[in-house]
This record gives sequence, structure tokens and C-alpha cells, in this order.
Amino acid sequence: MQEIKKYVDENKQRFLDELFELLRFPSISADPGFKGDVLKTADFVAEKLREAGAEKVEVCPTAGYPIVYGEKIVDASKPTVLVYGHYDVQPADPLELWKTSPFEPTIREGKIFARGACDDKGQFYMHVKAFELMQKTGTLPCNIKFMIEGEEEVGSENLGIFVKENKERLKADVVLISDTAMISLEDPSLETGLRGLSYLEVEVTGPNRDLHSGVYGGAVANPATILCKLIASLHDENNHITIPGFYDDVQSLSEAEREKLNEAPYNEAEYKEDLGVEELWGEQGYTTIERTGIRPTLEVNGIWGGYTGQGAKTVLPSKASAKISMRLVPNQKSSNITQLFKDHFERIAPKYVSVTVTEHHGGEPVVTPTDSIAYKAAEKAIEQSFGKKPIPTRGGGSIPIVALFEEVLGIKTVLMGFGLDSDNLHSPNEKFDIANYYKGIETIPLFHKYFAELS
Ligand code: BES
Ligand code: MN
Ligand code: MN
Repeated sequence: MQEIKKYVDENKQRFLDELFELLRFPSISADPGFKGDVLKTADFVAEKLREAGAEKVEVCPTAGYPIVYGEKIVDASKPTVLVYGHYDVQPADPLELWKTSPFEPTIREGKIFARGACDDKGQFYMHVKAFELMQKTGTLPCNIKFMIEGEEEVGSENLGIFVKENKERLKADVVLISDTAMISLEDPSLETGLRGLSYLEVEVTGPNRDLHSGVYGGAVANPATILCKLIASLHDENNHITIPGFYDDVQSLSEAEREKLNEAPYNEAEYKEDLGVEELWGEQGYTTIERTGIRPTLEVNGIWGGYTGQGAKTVLPSKASAKISMRLVPNQKSSNITQLFKDHFERIAPKYVSVTVTEHHGGEPVVTPTDSIAYKAAEKAIEQSFGKKPIPTRGGGSIPIVALFEEVLGIKTVLMGFGLDSDNLHSPNEKFDIANYYKGIETIPLFHKYFAELS
């Protein structure tokens, strides 16, 4: 521990400078306009892995953005950790809501503000620096493989193919990921599950063209109004989702498990204050921790139609659309839920409009074991560096590839995230605490140490 702290102390500024360099690349995978930047980011990551001491470093091409691979095999008889992360980021807009430019990292009150600061550049880079530390101090106790992809934020489609085609190369005993959150530095935690996802787009069409809303309004159904009604009907008065069969496969937790889950620190007043809301909303009969961890949800991610420009235009739009996603929990299946939604939405559409439902990406929910050697190693590592045993929690977000690692490679994952839920992921002013960054770099070598010892 002393040695770890010493190395981090001596290299503090450089660790931060390098992360800043990484954050300056606008590696937005969703927007083809940034293709050159995404590709440059992959090269940068490869270079940094090489500098840190990784071997067989390769920028592996795919049909989309490349996957950066690197490894250090110290002894074939020792256990192997596969580190996964992503170098792509979400779009930064709305740009006008950023206090400082999203791709010019800035420090305010001990936090790094930049797109990707927490999700996931700041977090996967901790692993690169922890690896450097273990290499330079001669303390790498096990084999390590890195797989850093560039399409996580758009569904990881090509990573799925890569994993299937590289089973041998990716052989490992555990997948280690820092792309989730902990409660706080004072209350460290480990996420032990991720939700799945079904993502769809709906389009409601009324008249065959936009109409003058005075001339035709009142006599023809307005697709925007109908879309709102349809969407509103997807939750009942208790905020349950009304799609028939939606909850059929939901695994419910025992009373004891629910009680345990709710022991995690949670301050409702602070939660509301941070979000600027007077009251919370959610499925009746469940706490906030349950609503965001073990229960499925349905959200509108975007909605549009008609005139949305400057000033006023009196128009009855021909079409209105929405992007809708559902978060899934064990044992719901993404393809099944997508089908249920499609059938339901088409069934409830009234005669005076037509609807189309288009599928986007999906992913399966996962629960990660808490009785494994790897989980125990993560627990010990955090306990030692934070001075407190981590609380197991269930994460609300999704990393669809985790279910695939299990299915294709037969490897379980440990989600050792160091971000915070309030780090503004996917939102303006994304941030990552500098303290969390260094804490992560200190904790990761301990994970490898205990994983090797316990194995
Ligand atoms: N790192 C997040 C997922 C996450 C965030 C998990 C916080 C737990 C806590 C990841 O980059 C992400 O944003 N995933 C997407 C899904 C993907 C298919 C676009 C998500 O959760 O919306
Ligand atoms: Mn992420
Ligand atoms: Mn993300």
C-alpha cells in the first residue's frame, strides 16, 4: 500500500495531464462527423497501453470503430483479468448548457469537467495507470488483458462479433469493469447488477401532409396529441407499466433481500434537492433504491413533431415521433419485451392515425455474483483503500456486453466503478472527482493482488 501511494504521489500531475489529453478527443461514436477523432482516440489509447508496458497491443478493426487490445502475460499458470472499458463518449449537446467546453477539461472544486470524464475515459484510464504502476514497481501479480472499445454508447454491436471471433485471445478468469458508480467516497459500494434495455422509436401519422391548424384543426386527429395520449397510457395511476405481460418474467426479490438492499445510505431530501424536484415519482410500492435497481421502467427519451423552431407557426403536423426505452431486470428478455411493446402499441393506436414501431438496440440484464473470488478481491481492495467495506448495490444503467461476456466467454464480471450517480453522465457538465480518480488508481492494484492471492 505504501509503495502504491508513493508511486501515485510521484506521478500525480502526469496521471492527470494524460487523462486531460484523452478527454480532449471528441470521440462521439453516435455522430459520423467525429469519425476522425474517434479513430485518433483509439490510436492514443493503444500508444498509452504500450507505454505502460502492455504487449501485443493492437488496434483491431471492426465494421465500426476499432477495439484496442493489449496484454501482459506474466505466467500462464497465474489467473488472468480481462479489463473492459470504452473510449467513445455520448454527444455533448446541448452545448449551451456547459459551463466550460466539453472537450477542454477544466477543474472546478476538485472535479474534472469534460464529456467522458467519468463515462468512461476517466474510469478506464485508471486501469491503464494502475497497470503502469504495477509494471514499474514490479508488482503485477497476475496476467492482464485490456479490451477497450469505441462503440459502447451506440450498442456495442461489433464488440459482440469480436468477442465471438476471439474467444481464445480473450480467455480470462474474470472481467473487471470500471464503468459504474459508487455511493460516495465515504460510503464505497460495488454494483452487483445492471439493467437490460429495449430501445424503440415510434412514429404516429395522421393526415397525408401538414395542415393549416385553423382550417382543419378540430376535424382531423392531431398525431402529436394522439402520440401524447398513447404514451401517457403506458403507465397507470400507480405508475405501473400497462403493457400486457410486461412484468410476467420479472424476478421479485424476497422481503429479506429487499430489506438488505434498502439498508444502503439514501437521503431523500438531498436526492430531491440535487435534482431540483419537489416530489419524486415512481412505481407505487417501491422505494427509490428499488425503482432504480430492481424494477423495470419505461421512459420517453425524446419526442418531436410539428413546428419547433423560433416563434409560432399554426400547423397541424402530419407526423409525430418519440424515442422510448425500457430498462429491464432479471429475467426479462430484451427481444421479448420489444415484441410486447410493438404488439401493444399497434393495438392501442386509434383508427384515425397509423403507427410504426422501429427497433433500436437492446441488451440483457445481469446480476454479478457476490460469492466469487473476484468479488471478494474487490471487496478487500476497497476495504483497504477506503477504510470501509463496500456496500453491494444494484445499478440502474446498462452495459449490454456484460451479459455477452458471460454467455459467449463464460466469464463473470466485477463492476468496480468509482463514479457517482450525480456525475452528470450523458448530460451537460459531466464530471469526475479527482479524488476518485486517484483512489481508483490506488485500489485497482490491490484488486489484482487479492485476486491472485485468493485464486
Ligand atoms: N457507463 C454507462 C452505464 C452505467 C452508468 C451503468 C451508470 C451503471 C451506472 C454506459 O456507458 C451507458 O451509458 N450505457 C447505456 C446503454 C448503451 C447500450 C447505450 C445506458 O445505460 O443507457
Ligand atoms: Mn459507460
Ligand atoms: Mn454511457
